[in-house]
Amino acid sequence: MTKTKILLFESSYTQEVIKLFTDVFSASENESEGQVIGNFVSNLVTTTKPKDLIGFVATSDERIVGCIFFSRFVVPTTQVAFILSPVAIATSEQGTGIGQQLISYGLEHLKSLSVDLAFTYGDPNYYSKTGFVPINESIVKAPFELSQPEGWLGQSFDGKPVKAMLGSTQCVEALSDKKYW
Ligand SMILES: CC(C)(COP(=O)(O)OP(=O)(O)OC[C@H]1O[C@@H](n2cnc3c(N)ncnc32)[C@H](O)[C@@H]1OP(=O)(O)O)[C@@H](O)C(=O)NCCC(=O)NCCS
Repeated sequence: MTKTKILLFESSYTQEVIKLFTDVFSASENESEGQVIGNFVSNLVTTTKPKDLIGFVATSDERIVGCIFFSRFVVPTTQVAFILSPVAIATSEQGTGIGQQLISYGLEHLKSLSVDLAFTYGDPNYYSKTGFVPINESIVKAPFELSQPEGWLGQSFDGKPVKAMLGSTQCVEALSDKKYW
């Protein structure tokens, strides 16, 4: 019986993590999507300032079987926010709870750093399991026009609904490409 361990991302994991994302998305979508996400992760890790990026890996038998990143998301209030993107679990390990474990661990870590809000853009059915709820853009604007507005999700760590805020938001450079939105 192997046990999954969660560790903070370190730059020495970069190549293994890029391969994980490329392989997982090649299998779940197609090879070209795998390349797109692999390049995105490479960009995210190399262009984001350390204070604006937090990543975790899930390991099993010294092998990385999952990875998640949160990057700083600037909102037009004094609140501190991060956005979850992306997350991947090795194809052979999917559906065994590691994804939810990594997301929950990451969110707890953000809370411990006094972060106020977390956002993501993805499947509401999956992310609702870890506290995310749909966010209307009249409450918080996304930084780019959304191709799937129903995937715009967020949560406030004070347990209350995310409060409406006026003004634009900003993601890190690696995410600043309309093709991801
Ligand atoms: C999506 C992903 C991160 C989920 O991680 P996981 O470890 O496989 O999922 P878990 O075992 O933690 O959660 C399983 C639960 O989520 C559900 N689930 C898994 N993937 C889902 C998806 N894409 N959409 C909706 N529900 C999903 C399962 O039905 C299961 O539900 P249950 O708890 O009610 O039985 C993982 O499957 C993955 O890497 N997929 C390919 C890449 C991807 O789509 N990443 C997310 C976008 S960045």
